[in-house]
Amino acid sequence: MIIVIDGPAGSGKSSTAKAVADKLDIQYLDSGALYRTLTLIYLESGKDKTKFFELLNQKSISFYYTDGAFNVSIGKQNITDHLRTVEVSEHVSTVAAMLKSREHVNRLMRKAVQQGAWIAEGRDLGTAVFPDAELKFFMVADLDTRAERRYKELKAKGTDITKDEVKKRILERDRKDSQRKSDPLRKADDAIKVDTSEMTFEQQVNFICSKITDKFQRLLKY
Ligand code: DC
Repeated sequence: MIIVIDGPAGSGKSSTAKAVADKLDIQYLDSGALYRTLTLIYLESGKDKTKFFELLNQKSISFYYTDGAFNVSIGKQNITDHLRTVEVSEHVSTVAAMLKSREHVNRLMRKAVQQGAWIAEGRDLGTAVFPDAELKFFMVADLDTRAERRYKELKAKGTDITKDEVKKRILERDRKDSQRKSDPLRKADDAIKVDTSEMTFEQQVNFICSKITDKFQRLLKY
């Protein structure tokens, strides 16, 4: 069983999806982390596209969720701590725009969710990767709210950055994610839109959990 949450950067997908996974005791999948993993391999290749795909085919990528953290390994090495560096963030849109990268990540995800119950978050999960997902959500929030959230996260990690810079980066990522040719960020027609601009974190989590439990209770009745 697969439930998906798509939406732009800073809309609250990751924290909400993790909290829902914990509350309902299901697995969590962070597709952005997989694009970031491919980006590490792209950087290792010296940003050479041919070498990158050769390297990618030689590596085995695995992942698991535990204690609030989505862990990714390349071979036996856990590389989770390397996924959110400025260098990876700067190159991830380029890697995510390559069709072969998308095919690779989609294969990894589709294989993983064959067993168990999952909630996955990303940009194109409801439209391209899991069009038959049992439930789809599309989370949005206004730009100021998203920038404020990211700014606080970065400041908490000790990153030296201004709010304006955070806003500029979010706008640039929105533009790249929604204008790329392969599977751009888009709401699936059957996704439930959740605008989190005026919602507390608890309200977001409860809203999504209630939609999930409603749906499955209804299915159990018939
Ligand atoms: O959610 P994130 O910031 O970790 O995502 C990193 C990048 O990966 C983001 O720029 C968009 C891309 N991405 C994507 O193209 N498709 C997905 N399903 C998830 C992420």
